Amino acid sequence: MGINTKLLHDYPVIDPHTGASSIPKYQTSTFSQAKLSDPTQAFTYTRFGNPTIQALEKAFCSLEDATYALSYASGMAAISNVLMLLKSGDHIILPIEVYGGTCQFTTAILPQYGITVSFVDMSSIDQIRAAITPATKMIYMETPSNPLLKVTDIKTVCQLAKGNDILMVADNTFMTSLYQQPLALGVDIVIESITKFINGHSDVLGGLVATNDEALYEKLHMFQKNFGGILGVEDAWLTLRGMKTLGLRMEKSVANADSIANFLLTEKNVKTVYYPSLKSHPDSIIHNQQAKNGGAVLSFELASEEIIDVFLEKLKLPILAVSLGGVESILSHPATMSHACLTDEERREQGVTNTLFRLSCGIEDSEDLLADLAQALAI
Ligand SMILES: Cc1ncc(COP(=O)(O)O)c(C=O)c1O
Repeated sequence: MGINTKLLHDYPVIDPHTGASSIPKYQTSTFSQAKLSDPTQAFTYTRFGNPTIQALEKAFCSLEDATYALSYASGMAAISNVLMLLKSGDHIILPIEVYGGTCQFTTAILPQYGITVSFVDMSSIDQIRAAITPATKMIYMETPSNPLLKVTDIKTVCQLAKGNDILMVADNTFMTSLYQQPLALGVDIVIESITKFINGHSDVLGGLVATNDEALYEKLHMFQKNFGGILGVEDAWLTLRGMKTLGLRMEKSVANADSIANFLLTEKNVKTVYYPSLKSHPDSIIHNQQAKNGGAVLSFELASEEIIDVFLEKLKLPILAVSLGGVESILSHPATMSHACLTDEERREQGVTNTLFRLSCGIEDSEDLLADLAQALAI
């Protein structure tokens, strides 16, 4: 089945009770029980399970090609649940430029539980290998990374971990499993912030976790119930609706990103363009082996700090905002947004300069986006 057909048919899309062609919002916290302890009653309390949320989790299984999927109130709820699989004495390796929330969780919260953390440049297999210790129990990847779109070789890192009892986790928010399937490449747990491309309309916060491992699923399911960070019913319903067009939206957004990345390469007021499928990207070969295209997110550096204000004043279409993955193009400024909590020196070390911008391409007409960028860069 092709992906667009899957997104419309390969999970419960019809309400079994009424035939409604959209699974209704079962907006209830509890379910009336005809008798005590009836094992045939599917739902008892929404934190334990709800038909709208269950339909969405089945849709996630289809999307991720996974046996099990769980949904959460945000990407960070999904991430923190997975990180709590670690125990006192364990060690985790993460990318140095890991998403800010994950960075704060692993540096401010995990050490309280006796868990140690190493950050490495995950485009270097040597650095990952050197960071592994007998206590290492999790390697956490994000590829391409934020905001410099660095690439990690997922398959090779999974091979490193093999036989060492190390759980492999990938935050796949940037590519989505439509274009990159970490589970098929050897990862144990895939995470996505559904706030971004999966819902796609900048109107929901949510997260998902998918795995093929039953024991991991059982544990995460127990965590989901007890940490209580479940996705709300309304947000599950909105995501079911948003997901139906994921394939079409992504196709257009990626085509826009590809044209814009190539256009920016020719602009005199742009110093550098970061986009993982460009030939100039140092790891484009690895990226193109493990992903279907360059994705819908690119970053670029303006030629000087002096032109930033004029550029932003002139640019009309992309909204200037935190986040990515909406139908509208979103321009972010990592130094003052996602990476604001780092010191100047940490930002410099990571290559997050003041002139760096990240563009999440939406589904506007390419010509309009290109014309808007061209006039904004004509300074
Ligand atoms: C790569 C990545 N992972 C996780 C998150 C967190 O997602 P949420 O904001 O839904 O908690 C984000 C948010 O920007 C992100 O960019």
